[in-house]
Amino acid sequence: MHPDVKEILFDEQQIAERVAQLGAQISRDYAGEELLVVCVLNGAMPFTADLLRKLEGSILVDTIIASSYGSGTVSSGEVKISKDLKIDVAGRHVLLVDDVFDTGLTMSLLVDNIKGRDPKSVKSCVFLDKPSRRRVSYMPDYVGYEIPDAFVIGYGLDYNEHYRELPYVGIIRPEAVK
Ligand code: IMP
Ligand code: MG
Repeated sequence: MHPDVKEILFDEQQIAERVAQLGAQISRDYAGEELLVVCVLNGAMPFTADLLRKLEGSILVDTIIASSYGSGTVSSGEVKISKDLKIDVAGRHVLLVDDVFDTGLTMSLLVDNIKGRDPKSVKSCVFLDKPSRRRVSYMPDYVGYEIPDAFVIGYGLDYNEHYRELPYVGIIRPEAVK
């Protein structure tokens, strides 16, 4: 285990099991339909890569980089897209994939942004859900695991861009937080 990790929440096997379940569920839900899977960079990289390999059907993949800012409510929040999609979402089923749903601002604003581009549908899938800090009423359509209010790293999740490479999700040691 990495010395900066206090406790492992989900190990490689638990992650693989849950991702396989999500992949099966998503494949069933979109059976017979083409699906555009959007990886929200950088955090969702490992999760999206694993999830993709559990999807069956006609799948397209693209990436987006988004960050939310602004305060309080969704209506006052703004999403800044620093790297946009290459594939046209108009008339397509879109599934946004992110690492963690925390306040929910990033995903809910991103969903609204994509909805404005005339897609056939927009849904979201997050590996982790941290309900304790929620600031929006929007809920993701697919959730891997719900976690308590702790700062977690690994499986794409970073602290100052570090630890994304860890194959498990763990709680960071307070001493490692500077
Ligand atoms: P939200 O807009 O508050 O839902 O924030 C989502 C983003 O915050 C995620 O994509 C992560 O980049 C980051 N984030 C929130 N909680 C954590 C955490 O526990 N560890 C690492 N990044 C986190
Ligand atoms: Mg992130």
